Amino acid sequence: MPRHLITSALPYINGIKHLGNLVGSMLPADVYARYMRARGHEVLFICATDEHGTPAELAAAAAGLTVAEFCAQAHATQKSIYDGFGLSFDYFGRTSSPQNIEITQHFARKLNDNGFIEERAVRQVYSATDGRFLPDRYVEGTCPHCGYDRARGDQCENCTRLLDPTDLIEPRSAISGSTDLEVRETSHLFLLQSKLQGEVEGWIDEVAGTWPQLASSIARKWLAEGLHDRAITRDLDWGVPVPADTWPALAEDGKVFYVWFDAPLGYLAATKEWSDADPERVDWKTWWYDTTDVRYTEFMGKDNVPFHTVMFPATEFGVREPWKMVDYIKSFSWLNYYGGKFSTSQHRGVFTDDALSLLPADYWRYFLITNAPESDDVSFTWELFAAQTNKDLADVLGNFVHRVLTFSAKRFGDHLPAGAASGPAEHELGLQLSGLLEDYERHLDGIELRKATATLRAMWSVGNEYINEKAPWTQIKTDPDAAALTLRIAANLIFLFGIISEPLIPATAQTLRGLWSGTQRDLTDITWPEHRDVQTLDWLSAGTEFTLPPVLFAKISEDDVAAWRDRFGTDS
Ligand code: MF3
Ligand code: ZN
Repeated sequence: MPRHLITSALPYINGIKHLGNLVGSMLPADVYARYMRARGHEVLFICATDEHGTPAELAAAAAGLTVAEFCAQAHATQKSIYDGFGLSFDYFGRTSSPQNIEITQHFARKLNDNGFIEERAVRQVYSATDGRFLPDRYVEGTCPHCGYDRARGDQCENCTRLLDPTDLIEPRSAISGSTDLEVRETSHLFLLQSKLQGEVEGWIDEVAGTWPQLASSIARKWLAEGLHDRAITRDLDWGVPVPADTWPALAEDGKVFYVWFDAPLGYLAATKEWSDADPERVDWKTWWYDTTDVRYTEFMGKDNVPFHTVMFPATEFGVREPWKMVDYIKSFSWLNYYGGKFSTSQHRGVFTDDALSLLPADYWRYFLITNAPESDDVSFTWELFAAQTNKDLADVLGNFVHRVLTFSAKRFGDHLPAGAASGPAEHELGLQLSGLLEDYERHLDGIELRKATATLRAMWSVGNEYINEKAPWTQIKTDPDAAALTLRIAANLIFLFGIISEPLIPATAQTLRGLWSGTQRDLTDITWPEHRDVQTLDWLSAGTEFTLPPVLFAKISEDDVAAWRDRFGTDS
């Protein structure tokens, strides 16, 4: 059995992330990591804050802090929010770590030794008003490809093309707004990606066949346009310094590596942080270097795909060392907010800290994953969120649990009754659920999240149909043994839901798992159901004691929706 390395794209350090960021990488990665662990696989789930580059410098300046202070605070804030969402990272590191500096410099030296780095004089945007060179996001202007007028110097948000600041039409300084810009000459390191095109292409042909269309088509489009040599250093104060042993003049000049050069190496570095943090843990390289038994899955938004399919693999090839390459990329389109973009800079949409202050994580996890933008863009609206929460979570799941347990307690006390032996209806129910479980497993194995959640919901519904048809509240009048059987089976459905819902709504799942005591079988180690148990539905035998849970999911009222629409706005 392979070991599973799972990474989520590393969230930028600047600003609290919105729900679109969450559903585009970290949350689906968590669902998959939880599922794989539940199936008994060895999993290492790694993430980190992406701390270098102009966004961090701009945000620190806006907050009146040094970049180091800003990043330390922002890292702690993001980490606690992700804990609140139940994201089960094995390690949440930082790309500003000493580990990442060491690894990034190692990669750069090796690329240089192998002839894939060259120092070149470049013409760069200089702002007299600001008294500095303006790399990347320090310049804004109109995209030469699509005409979007707020394109940043490094990438156009609208058409996702990578840009160079000098490509922009009508450029302006993002610091001062000044258009008094000139182009001056300075030296930078270039990664000679053009020399690695063939290798990257060959590798994409080998691995990308099974990837979702979204990821493989972006990779192919990039390769078709041809790989260009790219500057991998910048004139910034904050970043991984160019190593002085290899490039003394550039180091003297204070150049640092471009954020997209060191960020993906942050996956390796955060693994090293994880392994350095505890002497009991295996050496990080056992996950990354010269491995044959690791399956590596990456999660990311579509704007990240070019970097992970082309630029980072080119870097890995160029070092001529056997670093682990990605096996599967799961990528996402955008979650919109009322048809427009979520925007960090304009604070449009719902941000992760606000979301947790309104409702517990499981409400958000469920909605976001059931609506994950796996192919097309999807819109968040409060109306949809309320309707789906009320129906699926409050009615189909929550109310089922409540009805079954309160009625059972009322008629039979707080121990499950024995009642009659299972009959054809129970047999049929078990077969139906076992079939659905097989679908659910297949969808989760394939990381088809919308299909998986639809199947999970179908399993909850089957439970509802079963008690609606059996109607124990009517059965009790004529045949108490039949009613008792229905309730005991329904209790087993609650137990089953507690197991299979865990990847999606872990807190609720834990509640459902914790209701029972004095069971005949030891159920504590069950992390995933066996199909034969699903067919017999007898984890919980007669006599099992249970407690009534508090309301699992409160309904969202029309007043809530109105208040939240007001508070968060719905205009674009
Ligand atoms: N910070 C980037 C973003 O939010 C993602 C970086 S992923 C990494 O788009 F692998 F490069 F770190
Ligand atoms: Zn564009």
